[in-house]
Amino acid sequence: MVEILQVNITDEKKKLVVSEVEKFLKERKDYKGMKYEKRKKIKQIILNILPHNDYIIKKIYDICKFSKKLYTHSLNVAIKSLILDLAWQERYNNGLIDSLQSEHIFYGAVLHDVGKMKLNKKYLLSKLIEVENEDEFHKHPKVGYEIIMHESKYHKFPIEVLDIILQHEERLDGSGYPNRLQGNQISLKAQIVALANEFENYYAGELTFDKRPFSQINRKLMTQTTKFDKI
Ligand SMILES: [Fe+2]
Repeated sequence: MVEILQVNITDEKKKLVVSEVEKFLKERKDYKGMKYEKRKKIKQIILNILPHNDYIIKKIYDICKFSKKLYTHSLNVAIKSLILDLAWQERYNNGLIDSLQSEHIFYGAVLHDVGKMKLNKKYLLSKLIEVENEDEFHKHPKVGYEIIMHESKYHKFPIEVLDIILQHEERLDGSGYPNRLQGNQISLKAQIVALANEFENYYAGELTFDKRPFSQINRKLMTQTTKFDKI
């Protein structure tokens, strides 16, 4: 387990965050559609990590206080990332679950958009489709990386988590940002979170002018093989 120094947070706030995350999990469509064993694994991963990590609980709490929209998005991306990670590990890791990989992915996904908290609020209030091509908006992965990098001096955050934050908007074909990385220059964990993030943005109707069903978004992303690997 990643060792992270503790922060001050009341037991009441901790309980609130853990129960909210459990509620999120129960309500997710793709989680509900999974087999019992898989559902159990995802829940176990989250409940093994969360109650023992005050730093991440505090971050979730702070994100929620700052913006309900960012909080909802961050948790949904974290859960979707774990679902994709489980599928990836079952396929390519002989069914063995590397819990450290899942832990990195969970932290990285929860924190992937913290950089948006330092940008102009219009970027959180607008639909993504209206601002996604603006240079200012493209700064958020680097800003988020710097915030967590700075705090990581005190909380010993692993580089794998920082890479997810910095690289979650990169695409395999080099069309992403901030560094236009290509292929395996992008860490596998960042690729998983990038795919989960794109899925959630479509599902929330952020990248289109109407909401699309789960199945339609799944089909759409399966065809985007130049941008995302077949996770
Ligand atoms: Fe982002």
